[in-house]
Amino acid sequence: AVPLVIDTDTAQDDCVALLVGLLDPVADLRAVTMVAGNVGFDQQVRNAHLTLNVAGGRSDVPVYLGCRRPLVREWVSAENVHGDGSGGLSMDQDGLEPRAEHAVDALVRMAAENPGELSIVAIGPLTNIAAAVVRDPDFARNVRSLYVMGGSNNGRGNITAAAEFNFYVDPEAAKAVFAAGFDVTVVPWDPLTLRQAVFGQDRLDRIAALDTPLSRFFTRICAATLDFDRRVGIDGTTHPDSLTAAVLLHPELVRSVSPYHVDVETAGELTRGYSAMSWGVHGLEPNARVVEEIDADGFFEYLLSLLSRDIRP
Ligand code: BDR
Ligand code: CA
Repeated sequence: AVPLVIDTDTAQDDCVALLVGLLDPVADLRAVTMVAGNVGFDQQVRNAHLTLNVAGGRSDVPVYLGCRRPLVREWVSAENVHGDGSGGLSMDQDGLEPRAEHAVDALVRMAAENPGELSIVAIGPLTNIAAAVVRDPDFARNVRSLYVMGGSNNGRGNITAAAEFNFYVDPEAAKAVFAAGFDVTVVPWDPLTLRQAVFGQDRLDRIAALDTPLSRFFTRICAATLDFDRRVGIDGTTHPDSLTAAVLLHPELVRSVSPYHVDVETAGELTRGYSAMSWGVHGLEPNARVVEEIDADGFFEYLLSLLSRDIRP
């Protein structure tokens, strides 16, 4: 099994990524850590608990609350994309309480308890990860591998022309993380997610046809983003976060991955959060691997098989 923590701003595909960590038999999900991002912080916590509940009442997985705002900037949300992030679902929160320990302390502690063992899947702004680097100079070394959803390797953003949301929200944190010496794998927004991790109507119909509690949950939580995506010309739901978790657990889904030197713009007027991904010709030492191509059908079939399981809250 792969020991991992998912660091998340839980809404829509973050919930699907949690399902990956909770349901894949290869995964040993040790904790969920929360960071400010997509929607209101307390709503994100509700969305995470809701997902734990849907995945079979997983009160065994601790949820830790982390940074409620970026390192330097004001928090920016994506409620226009996600609504409340869980399709208006509510639940009885009995038995699912966040832990008292701060997420940054929990990350530092878990990594130090078993150096070189724990992987982190970071699918929100990188605030908690950067804070953990500051908190413990050994943190990056203690973490086995860090899987980051963020940036683009073709210069195209989703929140601005130049920036992907996770890096835009906390560019200083993202910059610090790429300078910290982690073993990093990046799942970018564009072109990878937009070309290979969009589920169009045919695939969404196949998920709906499963008619399991999990498939109904998926359809419900993805509805708001689907509306938004269609309005902006993306023909389906986007799955960068669940792909990031899947890439850690199933490296065979990756068809092409290349070394890059990744850095993040913190000063630009129009380019805040832009991810500068330099390859060999620019003469910089690589500090990350960037996933460039996946087995897109394999990724979809993988999620389909997880959602087909008859698990009840
Ligand atoms: C990222 O931002 C969020 O909306 C998604 O969950 C993903 O982590 C994509 O830019
Ligand atoms: Ca996210």
